[in-house]
Amino acid sequence: MLPVLRATRYDGRLKVGKTRPILISATAEDGSEHDVVVKFAHRMERGWPGILAEAMAAMLARDLGMGVPTPFAIRISEAFVSSIVEPEAAEDFMKAMPVTFGTELLVGMNAISTDTPFSDALIAQAGDAFAFDVALDNTDRRLENPNCLCDGKRMVLLDHELTFFFGTLFWQEPWNVGALETWKAGVPHLFYSRIRGKNLSFTRLSTALGGVTPQQCDAYVAALPDEWRADFYEEAQEMADYIKALVANAPAVITEVRRVLA
Ligand SMILES: Nc1ncnc2c1ncn2[C@@H]1O[C@H](COP(=O)(O)OP(=O)(O)O)[C@@H](O)[C@H]1O
Ligand SMILES: [Mg+2]
Repeated sequence: MLPVLRATRYDGRLKVGKTRPILISATAEDGSEHDVVVKFAHRMERGWPGILAEAMAAMLARDLGMGVPTPFAIRISEAFVSSIVEPEAAEDFMKAMPVTFGTELLVGMNAISTDTPFSDALIAQAGDAFAFDVALDNTDRRLENPNCLCDGKRMVLLDHELTFFFGTLFWQEPWNVGALETWKAGVPHLFYSRIRGKNLSFTRLSTALGGVTPQQCDAYVAALPDEWRADFYEEAQEMADYIKALVANAPAVITEVRRVLA
């Protein structure tokens, strides 16, 4: 669910992203090598809970059949930190020791923009992305900050450090009637204007969400590195418990999503 890789080679900092992610090469237990985009808790608004949110949201998204890059736990050794010649990057990895979050680098995809043409298939994926974000209180997917890559057929969602926040002004559990009203006028979402009035059914997502078991939610927590669980057990368990409640209330959540999109 959250495979563990060892960081082996520093490949440079990305030119995009407010938390200034870094590209590395990392090795799995089976010897396979991966290009990974690594993120840093100390550069996130929420610190380590942001890293936990990235991991929990990615595991859930995959179980819901949504497009997200493969998530990893990235183990950082002192030898790796010493091998980095750029002091600022070395310091980032030092602060992120012993383990941080990363995703498999995707190539050949572009950030979604206002003039990206949308097929029906992309509209359906955009609908799922909207439902996913509002269900997890993710206010970080906006036109000016899409956090979404697309190759014309498939979209991939990135950057879930603000999911499970629940601190957004007027936030309410999304299974309450009226809870998502704020997404109509207040919180702007990348896809809201693209999908409103399209009468999307969300049948696929609804079935997928309803199929997530409490055991699966506990398995997300169990898949986190021991160090994160030791330091942030309560936060991780809260996220898992929230997913359980979301699943238990799946039909009401979908009804509320459809209501604000009508
Ligand atoms: N796995 C990935 N594959 C390709 N590009 C990525 C990947 N992860 C991040 N990026 C690129 O880096 C940008 C910043 O990453 P993101 O996770 O959004 O971090 P930030 O929290 O700094 O915004 C993304 O908008 C995207 O352009
Ligand atoms: Mg981002």
